[in-house]
Amino acid sequence: MNIQATTQAVQDIDCDALIVAVAHHAIGGGKQEALFSSPATTVDRVLDGVLRNVCADGEFKGDLGELLTIHTMGRIAAKRVIVVGLGTQEKIRTHTLCFASQIAAHHAQDIGLHQVALALEWDNKHINNVQAVQAQVEGALLGSYTFRRYQHSDRKGRGIGQFLLLVDKMDELEQALRRGQTLAEATNFARDLVNEPPNVLTPYELAHRASAMAKQFALECEILDRKKMEELGMGGLLAVTRGSAEPPQFIILRYRGADQGSDKGMALVGKGITFDTGGISIKPADAMDEMKGDMAGAAAVLGAMQAIAALRPAINVTALIPTCENMPSGTAYHPGDILRIMNGKTIEIVNTDAEGRLILADALSYAVQQGLSPIIDLATLTGGVVVALGHIMTGLFCNNEQLTKDILTAGEAAGEKFWPMPLDEEYAEQIKSDIADIKQSGGRVASSVTAAKILEQFVGNTQWAHLDIAGTSYVDSVRPYQEKGATGVGVRTLVELAVQRAN
Ligand code: BES
Ligand code: MN
Ligand code: ZN
Repeated sequence: MNIQATTQAVQDIDCDALIVAVAHHAIGGGKQEALFSSPATTVDRVLDGVLRNVCADGEFKGDLGELLTIHTMGRIAAKRVIVVGLGTQEKIRTHTLCFASQIAAHHAQDIGLHQVALALEWDNKHINNVQAVQAQVEGALLGSYTFRRYQHSDRKGRGIGQFLLLVDKMDELEQALRRGQTLAEATNFARDLVNEPPNVLTPYELAHRASAMAKQFALECEILDRKKMEELGMGGLLAVTRGSAEPPQFIILRYRGADQGSDKGMALVGKGITFDTGGISIKPADAMDEMKGDMAGAAAVLGAMQAIAALRPAINVTALIPTCENMPSGTAYHPGDILRIMNGKTIEIVNTDAEGRLILADALSYAVQQGLSPIIDLATLTGGVVVALGHIMTGLFCNNEQLTKDILTAGEAAGEKFWPMPLDEEYAEQIKSDIADIKQSGGRVASSVTAAKILEQFVGNTQWAHLDIAGTSYVDSVRPYQEKGATGVGVRTLVELAVQRAN
């Protein structure tokens, strides 16, 4: 996507749509009044007060995400103005701007516009110029994202090809623009990986795309094959992959932004099941196609690594991605099997559909062995977290209070929501086994918690957080700000966390 900054006057920007923002504030007596940004004020003036008129009529209130399109009939250079609401003025933050930009860009993309100008600037004590620029660009690129690689469409050639961003000072803001672009492009890279069909995005292809990205962004890349996994004793990954004809891969990417010293840096671990049939404990056919998204944790980690490599924070980060398919076949692993994970612990299999924790157990053991800390894992781990938190919040399980706070803060800055979940020892009762060190599944009640308790067995005393993104990484219906499919959740929070830890 081509994005250019411009210092042209609002009324001179030649484009298919000019996006401006309007908020509102209370004026007493339960009434509210529209508040115009400076570009909106200019547009209103040159169009003889049409915006004020629409607002005075109550047709447009400036509620968050509200949209209004006005054709300019040649009176300014832009063919139309898209007004987007920012909601209550006091509540406007940078993520509000990002969200509004996302909605407006999604709409512009939807109606087939090609060249779109962003003029959503907003001044208040919570937002500076630099943040406003980054947020607008980020939102515009996220909102206009589409995945149409496999479609012959009658709308070919339609869709946004260029964004123009209205700024007052060129040089200073160029960096913020590029930062917004970096974050959104990394998120969209993750979305592409998730949206790819499982016949295309096999474990081998995922490793290929990871190494291609690593090459482009100058990251170190190492891919472990089955033989190496056997040498290392990765019994979880080797068991889950057994039913599949596709070879498993263990992807390692390294970013070095700080001296090695005693601090090895942090580990980002992503679940990379490229298709989850459930295996011998096979899933129902309904919506099984969505299980192509069972590698969203891996995708988020790869997206984050791409942005980290581009932004270069002073910190070391290692990405660890176990990837394979979970298939039923004559060679598949069985309920009843006892596996030995890389760190030596044995685990009794009760349901082959609880495969994520097994491949993660090996990856977490590997991270601990490498001395990486903290360890953050992202996984579409349980249906239980979807029941608990829906598609809005990601479940956050963490064995360290400070790390919990840091992730919540990073999520807040990135505009992604996390909800702290328990790891109390009482839950471990459910994963006791009669014949192995632990049982693989604790049954239906508190299934997200018991899954996290299993992961906890493999991190020892290392600081660790587990993000269960089963509900937030994929949406099965369109939203006003994004199309159906992958969301890219986690990417921006992980980048924010890495940047904050570097500072
Ligand atoms: N990949 C699924 C979890 C999932 C469910 C992701 C819905 C996205 C949307 C995971 O491998 C799984 O099957 N979990 C089972 C575990 C159970 C069999 C113990 C679950 O949570 O139902
Ligand atoms: Mn499963
Ligand atoms: Zn799964």
